[in-house]
Amino acid sequence: MNTLDIVILAAGQGSRMKSSLPKVLHSIGGKSMLQHVIDNSRSLDNANIHVVVGHGAEHVKTALLGQNVQFALQAEQLGTGHAVAQAMPNITDDGVVLVLYGDVPLTQTETMAELVKIAERGQFGLLTVNLDDPTGYGRIVRSDAGDVVAIVEHKDASEAQRAIREVNTGILALPAALLNDWIPQLSSNNAQGEYYLTDIIAMAAEQGVRIQAIQPATEQEVQGVNNRLQQAALERWYQRGRAEALMLEGVSLADPARLDVRGEVSVGHDVTIDINVILEGKVAVGDKVTIEANCIIKDSIIGSGSHIKANSMLEQAVVADHCDIGPYARLRPGSQLANYAKVGNFVETKKAFIGEGSKVSHLSYIGDAQIGAEVNIGAGTITCNYDGVNKSITEIGDGAFVGSNSALVAPVKIGAGATVGAGSTITKTVEADQLALTRAKQSNLNNWQRPVKKA
Ligand code: UD1
Ligand code: CA
Repeated sequence: MNTLDIVILAAGQGSRMKSSLPKVLHSIGGKSMLQHVIDNSRSLDNANIHVVVGHGAEHVKTALLGQNVQFALQAEQLGTGHAVAQAMPNITDDGVVLVLYGDVPLTQTETMAELVKIAERGQFGLLTVNLDDPTGYGRIVRSDAGDVVAIVEHKDASEAQRAIREVNTGILALPAALLNDWIPQLSSNNAQGEYYLTDIIAMAAEQGVRIQAIQPATEQEVQGVNNRLQQAALERWYQRGRAEALMLEGVSLADPARLDVRGEVSVGHDVTIDINVILEGKVAVGDKVTIEANCIIKDSIIGSGSHIKANSMLEQAVVADHCDIGPYARLRPGSQLANYAKVGNFVETKKAFIGEGSKVSHLSYIGDAQIGAEVNIGAGTITCNYDGVNKSITEIGDGAFVGSNSALVAPVKIGAGATVGAGSTITKTVEADQLALTRAKQSNLNNWQRPVKKA
């Protein structure tokens, strides 16, 4: 099989973003635009990926650290033809080249594959689109017979050519040998003084290489991002797609426009998600899960039948089946809930295992803790896990009962079936089935006269 060299142009500054971040590192759906292009093209067979960097080159390279990508530096941006030329020394003559753009993030793999197939037949595959307003784009010039014969850039176009609504998306594929021939023949003798990649179209036509223009399924696939307005518009379109995919997999969304997915989400059937939910990173949701409004769930697993109530935040949490979380719960990294566990309102957990059927219902901090099954943690209980230097563990056995407003000073163990009286500060082991109480005895004075205000 032929090799496929993918050249992704990412050298431009993107000055209209008004940003210190290189444009291609701005995100759609929580992932940089350049990463979208790389991920979507990576799944093509035998793909070698070349990224042409220039503005913010070091920043872009760092963002792609550890990925199998070759970089070519375009120190000065002299045009799209010049940009592709920088990658050519790394590309052999025997395969096919696909040119993509780091600021055109949502081109689908299927569209790319179609262009590559054309190039593998020795022809020139060109992606074009018909726009109501073609201003600024390169126009596709066709012969009377309907064959593509040239691309004329807007600034170089005649009035008649400017009336053409079929435009160049910039995305194309062709045999590497032809590209290698043509690139050195480009000149910068045009309105912008740039080396236009688009001039190779006329060269192909002259040499009788068949140019086959195809169109993307949607306009957004070829939409470039030049400013934050376009970024936001593309983000909404992308999110709509994510929401639709989830609905087709069995999720009911209160409002598809008010869910944001910024990562990879897997879902079971009969999942219900209310408005303003954000799913980030890797999230796996089981069957019959309900997620109420305003929850943020990041890199977490939620078991079947669990209910996440409004305004809860989960990060790197593993929730088993039939758990009850929130409202206003915060599960921080390392929180793990067994089946039927409950973490209620204004409870924060971190590196904590909460056993089957156990409840932490109100106003608690549970950190570095190992809690058994059927434990009740009273309102306001705090695991004091930090002495200012070290973190220590709190262990609580099955069936223990911790009264409200207790402080458990770690390292400390509370045995199975033990009881801690409300308002206690526990510093020593409580053995199984013991009652521990540390609060002062209550004293009552008879006929107490409250002070009166001085005249
Ligand atoms: C280009 C096409 C035009 C097409 C349009 C689609 C050419 C000559 N024109 O025009 O036909 O309709 O895209 O959006 O190709 N880049 C580099 N190095 C450079 C120049 C550009 O990396 O020296 C990158 C830019 O960062 C950008 C992309 O290539 O991502 C397109 O460059 P841009 O200058 O925006 O091309 P257009 O003038 O829009
Ligand atoms: Ca452009």
